[in-house]
Amino acid sequence: MTQTLTIPRPDDWHLHLRDGAMLQAVLPETARHFGRAIIMPNLVPPVVTGALAAAYRERILAALPEGMAFEPLMTLYLTEDTDPADVAAAHASGLVKAVKLYPAGATTNSASGVTNFDNVRAVLEKMAEIGLPLCTHGEVTDHDIDIFDREAVFIDRVLDPIRQSTPGLRVVMEHITTKNAADYVASQEQDLGATITTHHLIINRNHILVGGIKPHYYCLPVAKREEHRLALRAAATSGDKRYFLGTDSAPHTDPNKESACGCAGCFTATNTMSLLAHVFEEEGALDKLAGFASENGPAFYGLPVSSETLTLTKQDAPVAFPEKIESGDGPVTVFDPGFPVFWNAGG
Ligand code: NCD
Ligand code: ZN
Repeated sequence: MTQTLTIPRPDDWHLHLRDGAMLQAVLPETARHFGRAIIMPNLVPPVVTGALAAAYRERILAALPEGMAFEPLMTLYLTEDTDPADVAAAHASGLVKAVKLYPAGATTNSASGVTNFDNVRAVLEKMAEIGLPLCTHGEVTDHDIDIFDREAVFIDRVLDPIRQSTPGLRVVMEHITTKNAADYVASQEQDLGATITTHHLIINRNHILVGGIKPHYYCLPVAKREEHRLALRAAATSGDKRYFLGTDSAPHTDPNKESACGCAGCFTATNTMSLLAHVFEEEGALDKLAGFASENGPAFYGLPVSSETLTLTKQDAPVAFPEKIESGDGPVTVFDPGFPVFWNAGG
């Protein structure tokens, strides 16, 4: 008997679409299955004003193939020069759904991020007042903090102090990778949510480093020990509304990944929904996939759940995903889970 699972059309609450030829190549991979996505603003140069976000949104819509429906939910990149009035206007017009905090130097294209948090205080207060969420790349960048500890230290030194000093500020801890982060979310009663990526439910740090270095498994925050992966699985499949899907699908060309100084980012847009069905089935939690991928995110952002659906079908033979997506900038390797996947998301 064929097994099927129908869920409301999912959304991706953390996505990198890039621009130009790369945007053209990767956008259909997301739009095939997802109705909306929170679009990361870390272009070069970054999307720092409402005007830049509006122009980027137009480029995304122009790149959408005929017949595909997709709504980009725009974000602003927080800098120490961000103008609270511009943020408020971009929110009031309906254009911008979140502001993104990158500690300066934390990840790909984050050089314009924040160093001195006192300099963004007025913006954060305005956001708390108007109910505009702050999405955080939760890693400190101090050289003396081990890369595997940077998320846990961020919670203590940056995130919790910001939340304490800005009552009412709604925060999304993005792409959480540790039990520490999942525990912090679970301990907070309001104004806090967290996204979890597909790949962090599948790989731990051994996948990156054992038996030869695997550049396509390198992303930031970097995958941690197995105990953390298990904590993320428990959180994602718990049914707790505070956790929702943010794939952090982040395309880089193969030459930029397979390099002496390889870029951080896993490209998962193509097979994310199939992989999630596999993971949720493994956890005996297929009934929780709709919450995680389709319902909890809209609830946090105050948007309606999609009235459309996505049906996943479990087939007898493994689904054949492309190994790479071709782009005008070069090939992009699709995330390889390392095991066969039988759930077909269609399209
Ligand atoms: C992202 C990218 O490539 O833009 N990379 C990544 O490893 N996740 C940036 C980010 O979200 O950290
Ligand atoms: Zn990201």
